[in-house]
Amino acid sequence: MASIIRAIEKRRSVRTYDDTPLSNEEKRRIEEVIEKPLSCPFGNKSRFCTIDMSEIDKREARGLGTYGFIKGATLFIIGAAEKHHRALEDFGYHLEKIILELTVMGFGTCWMGGTFNRANFARRISIRENELLPAITPVGYPLNRRSLRENLIRLAASARKRKPWEGLFSLGDVEHPLERESAGRYQIPLEMVRIGPSASNRQPWRIVKEQTGEVFHFYLRRTKGYGKIVPEVSLQNIDMGIAMCHFEFSAGELGLNGRWIEREPEDKPPGMEYIVSWVG
Ligand SMILES: Cc1cc2nc3c(=O)[nH]c(=O)nc-3n(C[C@H](O)[C@H](O)[C@H](O)COP(=O)(O)O)c2cc1C
Repeated sequence: MASIIRAIEKRRSVRTYDDTPLSNEEKRRIEEVIEKPLSCPFGNKSRFCTIDMSEIDKREARGLGTYGFIKGATLFIIGAAEKHHRALEDFGYHLEKIILELTVMGFGTCWMGGTFNRANFARRISIRENELLPAITPVGYPLNRRSLRENLIRLAASARKRKPWEGLFSLGDVEHPLERESAGRYQIPLEMVRIGPSASNRQPWRIVKEQTGEVFHFYLRRTKGYGKIVPEVSLQNIDMGIAMCHFEFSAGELGLNGRWIEREPEDKPPGMEYIVSWVG
């Protein structure tokens, strides 16, 4: 079985693609991945479909629009989530699992929550009254040479940079940074959260480990004003679901079993929203 940890380490946002249309066999394999059922931590269901740009009218394809952020991609995955409690976290968890499987298969992808024409893509998936379209991703083979524009986007988002371990994880309460050594068997799952993707690379996940036992509380430190950029969906709640995906599946690969529960600790760290806890 392919390593999910290796896939997390390998994944990066790809914005420049080989523009050769994918074969029917490749498309079939992608469809297989998106149709595989996945039970998500909060019990919500998302649905996904693909759109092949090489098969639709050129003018319509241009009109669908990723505002020049994505070059050459011929296939997109579009997702829809029903509006329920923690639907965006489950959506992030599910689409990231799909993205990691596509990474193992050699495909490039790029989470897109903002820079695409949401209304046009919503029409393609026939979005329903009770649904949101949280994000899309192109799928294709990365071109070795990045475009100048892609390099500028990556530079603007400091794409490879991540906050240091101490800025994200703490022990007992938010005042006390968690040393790598004190994370015990969960050092790698936490590192997999740290290197994950997030909207504009803001890395809003904060995790507090309890003093004793293998209990981890996941919080969201919302970036002020960020919600105004994409008012339709809270991209940072999607980021939390991606973090949960990385944490759970890398723990599983290491033989660490646990489960997600919603039980907010009494101490409320200031400026943070409680999301969920992992009990190992
Ligand atoms: C929820 C979410 C939404 C994103 N939206 C966009 C987007 O609209 N356009 C874009 O070019 N990149 C988008 N990104 C990609 C991030 O900018 C990227 O993940 C981050 O800079 C880290 O770089 P990396 O993915 O190469 O590790 C998004 C990422 C996430 C997780």
